[in-house]
Amino acid sequence: MSRFVSAAFCALFVFSMSSANASAATTYNASAGKAVYDVSCTNCHKMGIMGAPKLGDKAAWAPRIAQGMDILVSKSIKGFQGKKGMMMPKGGNPKLTDAEVGNAVAYIVQQSK
Ligand code: HEC
Repeated sequence: MSRFVSAAFCALFVFSMSSANASAATTYNASAGKAVYDVSCTNCHKMGIMGAPKLGDKAAWAPRIAQGMDILVSKSIKGFQGKKGMMMPKGGNPKLTDAEVGNAVAYIVQQSK
């Protein structure tokens, strides 16, 4: 029972977070995201490990960036399986907040277009 309640609460929380994110889509902070990237994303995205698109590889990023920030950020938060490989939720660092992941995505996008 309490597990159900906390699951429901959690779902509600995630829902309210995502709607808050949607309205704040332009407030990602790329310069704050660099620190997040340097700790949690660079392992794969610097060298292209496991099929990750490399930071600064414009050709690899252009079609991804075209999806829009909302989709890039939500896939980065939840993790996803793409054609090239698999990315874990939050790049495998569950301690990151959704906002930190969003900032890191903004940094990657800024460096890669
Ligand atoms: C364990 C390796 C790994 C780490 C760490 C990692 N990624 Fe990824 N990421 C991937 C792979 C692999 C892909 C491409 C998968 C594909 O397209 O098949 C990817 C793709 C992406 C994409 C493109 C999504 C799309 O729709 O094409 C974004 C944005 C992204 N990562 C952001 C991040 C951020 C932000 C971090 C750090 C918080 C991070 N990644 C850490 C492996 C990683």
